[in-house]
Amino acid sequence: MNTINPSMSAQADMRDQGAAVPVPEDKPETTVIEEGKTVGKPFADDPKFKLRNVDVSYGADRAIKNISLDIGRNEVISFIGPSGCGKSTFLRCLNRMNDSIDICRIKGQLMLDDEDIYHSKRDVVELRARVGMVFQKPNPFPKSIYDNVAYGPRIHGLANRKSDLDDIVENSLRKAGLWNEAKDRLDSIATGMSGGQQQRLCIARAIAVSPEVILMDEPCSALDPIATARVEELIAEMSESYTIVIVTHSMQQAARVSHRTAYFHLGHLVEVNETNKVFTSPEHELTESYITGRFG
Ligand SMILES: Nc1ncnc2c1ncn2[C@@H]1O[C@H](COP(=O)(O)OP(=O)(O)OP(=O)(O)O)[C@@H](O)[C@H]1O
Ligand SMILES: [Mg+2]
Repeated sequence: MNTINPSMSAQADMRDQGAAVPVPEDKPETTVIEEGKTVGKPFADDPKFKLRNVDVSYGADRAIKNISLDIGRNEVISFIGPSGCGKSTFLRCLNRMNDSIDICRIKGQLMLDDEDIYHSKRDVVELRARVGMVFQKPNPFPKSIYDNVAYGPRIHGLANRKSDLDDIVENSLRKAGLWNEAKDRLDSIATGMSGGQQQRLCIARAIAVSPEVILMDEPCSALDPIATARVEELIAEMSESYTIVIVTHSMQQAARVSHRTAYFHLGHLVEVNETNKVFTSPEHELTESYITGRFG
């Protein structure tokens, strides 16, 4: 029985004629990413941040490769992607937290309300009051609960009288969902609180200076599910007043809290779309591989 299929016999014919034979191609394992190209909806109608052609290097290593993205006013956007893909690096550009890293170079246009974040005359302290940050590990100062929350308002001169400062502290703790637990121990040392309480205290501290934007880098990774749920509720409540950018390794968390989700891969911004779309019908095959757990 002749088992040679037509294409094989065609190749044999070509070989006989001395022609180069095309090697049957395996499916390539790595997908080529076109630099600067992001599928989906990276732009917003009413941007709080307008970020264009952003490139970030640490010495000779490029960590962020030509990324353009808008972050909408009062939007919650999640940054997801495998470890080392540049999520924290990109997040830290938004309030110049990378400034303290000597070898870090940032190129491109980064605008907050149409003002250049990296303008040479930009007051970085004022910028960070407008764009607050909550870190992965709760990092309260070794001071009282009250003094932690009052710290920012004091250095920014936001309260002239003690009663004004008391109001700011109370309101911030209320917004962070911590008032009931903290009101009878305002003079206690903050580091004596539970991890979940400390993280909500750090959120209260960020809120106390009336920021416009809150950046959160894996804010729940050190918290148990109950404390995580509390912080997620807070994010939902806060989205009415603030723009929130959250880096997370939890796709469920991204799905629960964010309007849009941005998928990063090896320093590229591969896809940005409505969160629901990213998790149910991603446009890019790399996004799909990540959300289906094929890598990351
Ligand atoms: N301070 C630094 N000095 C040198 N290289 C750095 C520095 N910070 C980050 N990098 C490099 O930049 C790249 C992106 O790192 P980044 O921390 O932004 O990734 P990430 O997506 O936040 O990862 P993870 O999910 O693990 O937090 C990595 O290759 C990392 O090694
Ligand atoms: Mg990170």
